[in-house]
Amino acid sequence: MRTRELGGRPRQERTLVPIIPLLALLAAPAALAQGTARQGAQLFTQRCATCHSMGEGDRIGPDLHGVLERRDEAWVTRFIKSPGALIDSGDPVATELLAKFNGVRMPDQALSDAERDSLYAFIRDCTQKGKGGCKPSPAEKMGTDATPEEVARGRRLFEGAESLKNGGAACIGCHDVRGLGVAGGGTLGPNLTFAFARMGEKGMRPALAKLEGPMMGPLYAKAPLDEEEQYAIKAYLADVSRDGSRPRGDRDFFYLGVVGMAAVLGFIGVMFSAPSTRGLS
Ligand code: HEC
Ligand code: HEC
Repeated sequence: MRTRELGGRPRQERTLVPIIPLLALLAAPAALAQGTARQGAQLFTQRCATCHSMGEGDRIGPDLHGVLERRDEAWVTRFIKSPGALIDSGDPVATELLAKFNGVRMPDQALSDAERDSLYAFIRDCTQKGKGGCKPSPAEKMGTDATPEEVARGRRLFEGAESLKNGGAACIGCHDVRGLGVAGGGTLGPNLTFAFARMGEKGMRPALAKLEGPMMGPLYAKAPLDEEEQYAIKAYLADVSRDGSRPRGDRDFFYLGVVGMAAVLGFIGVMFSAPSTRGLS
């Protein structure tokens, strides 16, 4: 009994070892495909959604939900590259589409192969989810592409003139932004006039999706901004950071540095003091 038990263990370990990298290899393509579908969603919002919907009906151009099922992929690729060339070649489908969509010619789309693959991954993913399963997320849209209405809504939400859907506190309580009126905003948090210019679309999007930090974290953990609110506030911050003077040398930056440093130092202090006191007692 004993010897069998002892002999069994190493054998098991030996067989498990090569399985682990094998599993990682198997999982990798799935993760990769997901990543590209997400990139495709972003690309779609930025480059195609002005004219096309994904399951919400025709706009300036046809609804693209299921387009890779109703058309041959090679045809779609040729069409996207140059709709004009395909129309001019007398392709019957392209000609019919042009007539159906009031003679509006879709502009040529210069996409890399990788971008096209990610778009196709997104389109296939949406087709699988069924109609309406793939509404482009409003948070994906660039802050700088907003309409004046979206910017205005962002300001109302920031100021608390319109309440946040999940009951979160208005940002103005802790943040000032240039042009917010005579009283201005609170000073507990940094002035956000140039936050968008500094953080960029890439930094601002996740920051608004999850308002983190020692002050905001606890406050918004149970009352996050919904996607449309995230978008409107991002659009507002993009707008205020764009109009006006150059950010460099501005007092906002000095102020931000001091507050940021204090916050970081305070945080580090907490992190380091906690375990050491525990260790002593
Ligand atoms: C300015 C508007 C506009 C933009 C932007 C645009 N399209 Fe189009 N698209 C159209 C129109 C209009 C048609 C119909 C054919 C025509 O008239 O050229 C069309 C047709 C299509 C078709 C054929 C659909 C079918 O039912 O066979 C595909 C595929 C397509 N577009 C993909 C894209 C993709 C992908 C993007 C973004 C990378 C994009 N389009 C951006 C206007 C646009
Ligand atoms: C209770 C006060 C408080 C409220 C309310 C608050 N914030 Fe903050 N916020 C802070 C503080 C303090 C910081 C600095 C980092 C930290 O300590 O978390 C900060 C940092 C930020 C940053 C990063 C700025 C940078 O320069 O890095 C953004 C963006 C931001 N807040 C957006 C918002 C938005 C949008 C709202 C409203 C939905 C909001 N905040 C509400 C206190 C607040």
